[in-house]
Amino acid sequence: MKQDKSQQLFEKAKTLMPGGVNSPVRAFKSVGGTPVFMKKGKGAHIWDEDGNEYVDHCCSWGPLILGHANDEVETKIIETIKNGTSFGAPTALENELADLIISNHSYIEKIRFVSSGTEAVMSALRLARGVTGKSKIIKFDGCYHGHVDSLLVKAGSGLVTFGESTSAGVPAAFANETIVLPLNDEEAVKSCLENLHHEIAAIIIEPIPANNGLLIQSHKFLVHLRELCTQHNVLLIFDEVISGFRVGFEGAAGLYQIQPDIITFGKIIGGGMPVGAYGASHEIMNHISPLGPVYQAGTLSGNPVAMSAGIAQLTACLQPHFYQNLQHKTDHLVDGIKQHIHAKGYEITIYNIGSIFWFAFSDMAHLNRADQINSGKMSLFAKVYHYLLDNCVYFGPSGYEVGFVSAAHSEADIDKTIKTMCDAFDLVMG
Ligand SMILES: Cc1ncc(COP(=O)(O)O)c(C=O)c1O
Repeated sequence: MKQDKSQQLFEKAKTLMPGGVNSPVRAFKSVGGTPVFMKKGKGAHIWDEDGNEYVDHCCSWGPLILGHANDEVETKIIETIKNGTSFGAPTALENELADLIISNHSYIEKIRFVSSGTEAVMSALRLARGVTGKSKIIKFDGCYHGHVDSLLVKAGSGLVTFGESTSAGVPAAFANETIVLPLNDEEAVKSCLENLHHEIAAIIIEPIPANNGLLIQSHKFLVHLRELCTQHNVLLIFDEVISGFRVGFEGAAGLYQIQPDIITFGKIIGGGMPVGAYGASHEIMNHISPLGPVYQAGTLSGNPVAMSAGIAQLTACLQPHFYQNLQHKTDHLVDGIKQHIHAKGYEITIYNIGSIFWFAFSDMAHLNRADQINSGKMSLFAKVYHYLLDNCVYFGPSGYEVGFVSAAHSEADIDKTIKTMCDAFDLVMG
């Protein structure tokens, strides 16, 4: 496959931006080779600068649940942009998107729009601290919540430990405000809260952890978190930047029927434009400035063009059978691959929930903790990845990243992905 233009562009990009990219995983470090520079997308397909066409399962890392350049999203963006791109004053479009969400999402009563998932999480933490008057946060090993200082931490040594920063530039004092616990471990959370509840403002979790493989939690564990938080006056934050509007309009809260105290959103909410949000009850949200003492602001927050994209995309998600159709397609994809894996007896497992899927070189039917992932097998992923790329199927370039199915994927697209993935597995396992 010809990739001369991508190579030239990457050489130039490296002289201009750190690592040639504006977000690290795009640099292909974990799979090797040159990042593919994309030029256009339509539906489930994307084209690179050299003219190669791919079936896309990265979907911009999740936002594009309708696929690329969806007609309704495109029309709404163009209509809005003709009236200007930003005012720094309220617009009716903010009401429209907020109302669309709140009237169809029974787990939040009020919402604040920001410009990224990271910003949503950062603001939700400040809100939780402002509401409770406490400062420590519990997070889980294997969950990613954006590049918020106090969440770029890993577990230190010891059972209940304060975090150690995973990035230079994060003061130890910030990492010290975070406690990192293993996923799906009721006892660890219970004993931590019993000892430290008077210091802990919130527990933050991706209710469907999908940034470090797909580590589906037991319903019982999530219910247990809810009960413990209520018992100890600790707020429960569901980070639904990926799962929100993905596993159903009401996300994981709706799927599991668990009421978190705060929910963070990103990705799908903005229809491919930079939007994040956080929502909660009136009571909690009224702590935010200008009503309350928790300060949070943004020049481009609630940007009209971004709101328009969100309105168009979420309107489509609300159509009858939207999520059932997505599920049906994803089941077809996953079943097709599973059949092949079983027939060949490969030690590979494919995991999925809604239209999110991920495969690992493991025979464990359920993976729910980060330490169960065999990092030693990631070299096999790199081989699979390059086979897929060479055969025009595009995934996020890391074995820890999940794939997505969009409403735009056709049966033919899914069949192509099944065949190419099965061939890739034959290549590396054969
Ligand atoms: C669960 C979760 N939270 C937060 C973020 C950060 O969002 P953003 O990249 O928009 O800042 C991400 C990004 O992947 C995410 O998956």
